[in-house]
Amino acid sequence: MAIYKQLEGSVAWQCPSNIALVKYWGKHGVQLPNNPSISFTLDAAHTKTKIDFSKTNKTPKISFLFEGKKEEKFEKKIKTYLESIHAYFPFLNDFDLNIESSNSFPHSAGIASSASSMGALGLCLCSIEDMLTTPKTKAHFYNKASLVARLGSGSACRSIFGHTTSWGTHENLIDSSDEYATPFLGIHPIFNTFQDSILIVSSIEKKVSSRAGHALMEDNIFANIRYQQAHSNISKLHKALIEGDIISFGNIVEEEALTLHALMMTSNPSFVLLEPNTIAMIKNIRDFRAETNLPVYFTLDAGPNIHLLYPNNISAEIETFIQEKLLYLCIGNKIIKDKVGSGPIQLI
Ligand code: PMV
Repeated sequence: MAIYKQLEGSVAWQCPSNIALVKYWGKHGVQLPNNPSISFTLDAAHTKTKIDFSKTNKTPKISFLFEGKKEEKFEKKIKTYLESIHAYFPFLNDFDLNIESSNSFPHSAGIASSASSMGALGLCLCSIEDMLTTPKTKAHFYNKASLVARLGSGSACRSIFGHTTSWGTHENLIDSSDEYATPFLGIHPIFNTFQDSILIVSSIEKKVSSRAGHALMEDNIFANIRYQQAHSNISKLHKALIEGDIISFGNIVEEEALTLHALMMTSNPSFVLLEPNTIAMIKNIRDFRAETNLPVYFTLDAGPNIHLLYPNNISAEIETFIQEKLLYLCIGNKIIKDKVGSGPIQLI
């Protein structure tokens, strides 16, 4: 019989979303990446999760409320996930969990919530474990939270750390691992000021789940060359991030975004996730850059929405550009103003 330091309690964490600069696309084993990736951790787009736990002598029960309401689909997913990680958290055999979660961004905004939600859940589970047993060191705590977040949704492991984060082994990235993410060291301070204006082209749910998308890489004829490109782009981006070279940064980030979509277009079955307004925005961004020489770049995740990346010192010019040349291409004039953030916050 396990002995616990307490029989009940509560924990809560706020965890941000992240946007990949070098993309993770293709996996093997249990959520292990086929190539390393680097991301900016965001700030405004986040999930808050609270867990009340209490000891039981019966089969443990799990309840889940999303934005105050019972959500059967999410609850089922969370139960399956928790069952799959019992080996990491033996206390799950002995405690009832009441989980409540909410997002800072609307569910239908076209923003993936799996990174922030699995990140918040992983952090809560590690906090409960610390309260019930011997606390881990800070480094062990965050590595474990990142590892279990990864088991829920690969890219979620990068949300556990602030600013810029990498996941996947690469010779230039100190302590890098396929199992969990690590903070990017030595970054030029300009990148900590980066803004991410998320331009919502469509808020319709993704046509292809990321699980199905990753699986398509198994038969994609460009897969091996893509993994080589990702390794080489990490080397180049590593240098650009340290030197503060925003132009190289932008070139790599745009190449990565378009490569991700090219891979989807060349998979079988093939997916075109870009919308006409996405292409119109890309054209307007590149034209504006050519006219003004201002360092503003785009990236995309596995959907049609544009993430506009730029340093804070040109925010005024970019705000005018968005109003004049991009806003009319957004659905319902919808934009989410986000920026590079400092990482998760423990609330309880
Ligand atoms: O974490 P997943 O399985 O949802 O995959 C994320 C894939 C991309 O967002 C397209 C790229 C990335 O590295 O985040």
